[in-house]
Amino acid sequence: MATSTQVNPPPFQKGSVGAYKELAYGKYDKERELDLAAKFGAASYPNYLPVWDNENGEVYKPLTPFEHYEHGKDADPTFPNLLKDGTTIEDITASIGAEVKGIQLSQLNDAGKDELALLVAQKKVVAFRDQDLASLPIEKALDLGRYFGRLHIHPTSGAPAGYPEVHLVHRAAEDKSGLEFLNSRTNSVAWHSDVTYEQNPPGTTFLYALDVPKAGGDTLFVNQAKAYERLSPAFRERLAGLQAVHSGYEQATAAQNRGSFVRRNPVSSIHPVVRTHPATGEKALFVNPQFTRYIVGFKQEESEYLLKFLYDHIALSADIQARVRWQPGTVVVWDNRVTAHSALVDWDDGQRRHIARITPQAERPTES
Ligand SMILES: [Fe+2]
Repeated sequence: MATSTQVNPPPFQKGSVGAYKELAYGKYDKERELDLAAKFGAASYPNYLPVWDNENGEVYKPLTPFEHYEHGKDADPTFPNLLKDGTTIEDITASIGAEVKGIQLSQLNDAGKDELALLVAQKKVVAFRDQDLASLPIEKALDLGRYFGRLHIHPTSGAPAGYPEVHLVHRAAEDKSGLEFLNSRTNSVAWHSDVTYEQNPPGTTFLYALDVPKAGGDTLFVNQAKAYERLSPAFRERLAGLQAVHSGYEQATAAQNRGSFVRRNPVSSIHPVVRTHPATGEKALFVNPQFTRYIVGFKQEESEYLLKFLYDHIALSADIQARVRWQPGTVVVWDNRVTAHSALVDWDDGQRRHIARITPQAERPTES
């Protein structure tokens, strides 16, 4: 006969991080990451191993709002400076994603960068293969990102020593936290757009591979403009003018719960539920289950009902999603304003996954 046992606190409530689904990154064995003789060898880019350089307790000042200049508006829509002779571009799916070979992002002139912003706004996510970004001095990689907007410094993540503008996704060799996470969850999918709690959330955003598993650890992207377009005119009309609260508090609490550092006090922002892209004029859903908390002016049940529908719509619409496979040398550029994404922790043999993000902030979201 089954008997009940009181568990206090229940094992599935690790700290009060509410709706924030955490696949934690944190402390790692630095010596093993540098050890050529270790089971998975040494990290290929040790200059990109994370440090938490605010261990002295320094708290960064709050971010201030700024006017974003959208370079995608200046682009030649035939992309002559970006897609030159010898460059190949192939769509990943009919509705989202492309793969480009034959150019170096680090060599683009300003006209090419404008075209990059527009191409990424149109395709939503573009994987560039065989790039040299990871081997350049970190400052040079940051210079590329800086063209597209003020570089965001993440409030909780580790960064390469001296470069807090680089956000690191680092699952060290032999890290088992992904498996531990799956002890209490059925899957690792966590749809989100990055740091939408900021007043100026990111726009054209860069992720570049340092070390990636041979198979596994792909990233899913969903086209939030298509997700909006799929809704009926009557439903779209109901969403018009709605605003939602996006919160960074739970992410900060999650960092504190694992004994990590918070370099800037958490914030929340109110954004429109539907935003308009400044270069393409497209409207896109702008809610995500990681950071959006409630619809302003709705009662709790109403807000939860509407957001659950929108989250399910985004998650279930595999026909507007792309799955991007990483390779050494891959740089993935996506438009965080019109997409959501999810990492996948689907490999369990301890291979290292080490990826760097440069995160230019964009305009305060508006619906027009
Ligand atoms: Fe992300």
